[in-house]
Amino acid sequence: MVNARALLVTGGAGFIGSGYVRYLLRNALADRIHVLDKLTYSGNPTTLDSFSDDPRVEFIEGDICDPATVNHAVDGCDAIVNFAAETHVDRSLFDPAEFIQTNVQGTLVLLDAARERTGTRFVQVSTDEVYGAVLDGYSRESDPLYPRNPYSASKAGAEMLAISYAETHGVDVVITRGSNTYGPFQYPEKFIPLMITNLFERKAVPVYGDGLQVRHWVHVDDHCSGIDTALRFGASGEIYNVGSDDERTNLEVVKQVLSLVDAPEDLITHVADRPGHDRRYALSSEKLRGIGWEPKRAFDEGIADTVRWYRENRDWWEPIRDGSFQEYYRRNYDNREQAHPGARREA
Ligand code: NAD
Ligand code: TYD
Repeated sequence: MVNARALLVTGGAGFIGSGYVRYLLRNALADRIHVLDKLTYSGNPTTLDSFSDDPRVEFIEGDICDPATVNHAVDGCDAIVNFAAETHVDRSLFDPAEFIQTNVQGTLVLLDAARERTGTRFVQVSTDEVYGAVLDGYSRESDPLYPRNPYSASKAGAEMLAISYAETHGVDVVITRGSNTYGPFQYPEKFIPLMITNLFERKAVPVYGDGLQVRHWVHVDDHCSGIDTALRFGASGEIYNVGSDDERTNLEVVKQVLSLVDAPEDLITHVADRPGHDRRYALSSEKLRGIGWEPKRAFDEGIADTVRWYRENRDWWEPIRDGSFQEYYRRNYDNREQAHPGARREA
């Protein structure tokens, strides 16, 4: 067991990273947490308010690509958990270079910092997307990688670097590959919060293609407990999937959210599909369960809580949907207004 009590959490102002900081604090799993975050468009200072008063947390604004910043931030820590990343597939189709810079180069800088500090455990938070589309069955950690978009390619590249540092420099690396994650504090460009916030404003919800793509949905609290289990109980050099049993088509998820916000189905709008859209992701998490992890939040209950959270926290998401979000929205959605060939407009 790795008894990490002082952690560097990168990307801790984002969705899952901030959830992980709250998880550590709630369960008294750390005495000291350094949060390093560049506060990009998806890193929200208001999110930090949820733990900024806690004396165990120190926030450092900075870039994981900058070695001096990283060396300062990692000082005194016995583990690094790397959440910092560019994370949205659609944006990776517009600006792939940002993804390579942060997700690959940034991971390299962090690995170098771990290499200089013997005994530091390095957890690379990765994604089920590295497997590519899985039409049948469930991805296992030993399966080959077949990333199919610039985001997942950059995450696969980061994983390869991490493994290479374990092999060549003996860095104590563990990798987690999580499913699609949902819950409070998720930036509203991602599917579930985009739907919820659009529907609160009675705006249409854009469904790519036929909407029959399948995702496994894991609640952010379960994803965080999975990462923590891998950090503390995972074997060095190993990879752990963090999935759930909640498999849904996108249309099923939309209809569930529509009913939770009491919105009409004619707000569903099929739009042109995402290029290279992976049809299905699905993980087997047996390996992580084998070291003591178990997801606790069923999707039906978790999605209802999530809708409630967005309803009660307009102060968090309304300002985000102004300004640069609108620019991104136009860029991503304006040219795909025509329905996907063969798709029907839901009535
Ligand atoms: P997010 O976009 O909400 O947060 C990313 C955070 O990283 C932001 O706070 C941002 O400011 C910060 N950041 C970006 N570039 C940085 C840099 N150069 N230096 C320092 N900080 C930087 O993302 P998320 O959904 O919380 O994802 C966190 C991690 O989990 C990512 O590595 C992602 O690949 C992985 N993941 C996400 C999901 C999901 O469904 N959201 C699923 C599996 C894995
Ligand atoms: P997303 O939240 O972007 O996560 P990922 O691409 O990592 O799975 O999207 C989840 C699913 O929802 C994916 O199949 C794409 C689809 N989607 C839409 O249909 N419309 C949208 O506007 C968005 C953002 C996603």
